[in-house]
Amino acid sequence: MSNIIIYGSHYGTTKQYAEELSRRTNIEAVSFKDIKEINNYDKIIYLGGLYAGGVLGMSKTLKKLNKISNKTIILATIGLSDPTDEVNKNNIRNNIKSQIPKEVFEKAKIFHLRGGIDYSKLNFAHKTMMKLLYNAVKNLPEEKQTAEDRAMIETYNKKVDFIDFSSLDKIVSEI
Ligand SMILES: Cc1cc2nc3c(=O)[nH]c(=O)nc-3n(C[C@H](O)[C@H](O)[C@H](O)COP(=O)(O)O)c2cc1C
Repeated sequence: MSNIIIYGSHYGTTKQYAEELSRRTNIEAVSFKDIKEINNYDKIIYLGGLYAGGVLGMSKTLKKLNKISNKTIILATIGLSDPTDEVNKNNIRNNIKSQIPKEVFEKAKIFHLRGGIDYSKLNFAHKTMMKLLYNAVKNLPEEKQTAEDRAMIETYNKKVDFIDFSSLDKIVSEI
């Protein structure tokens, strides 16, 4: 049986999770940028950083799948917002649903992990985007703020690290 961990990471937090998962499971981890053919794998574990609701590289990668009936598909998102917040979790799942084929979504086991951010490392486009988003939510009354808004307000312009490798345990069990 042939398995693969594929990750989409801009700033390395998702890559850290993918490499730790690879170490624990002995499954090779590769960036989505380096993967050409995915149909010969039985088990595909995709980890992607959340960028404005999108999962980096996920739809581009999973679009290459043509027959999934005998496959196991595990998806994990890595974001700043709190994945134990039910509304947030539902938003992430609805976003995923709109980004991948229906049958892949229905087959996939989905997990949510927390990453981190270091504003001093963001590229110009990402910095600008965060500034716009921050300005749009910073004055919202607390009851109107989503988990995403709160995470952004609390971490804006800072360096934070919520990486917790123990959150990989449930994915390892699933594998
Ligand atoms: C431009 C931008 C957009 C982001 N959008 C989201 C988001 O929609 N939801 C979320 O939870 N985190 C969001 N984040 C935070 C990232 O998901 C988080 O930093 C993650 O750990 C990045 O993964 P990476 O280091 O592997 O690139 C965003 C970060 C940036 C810079």
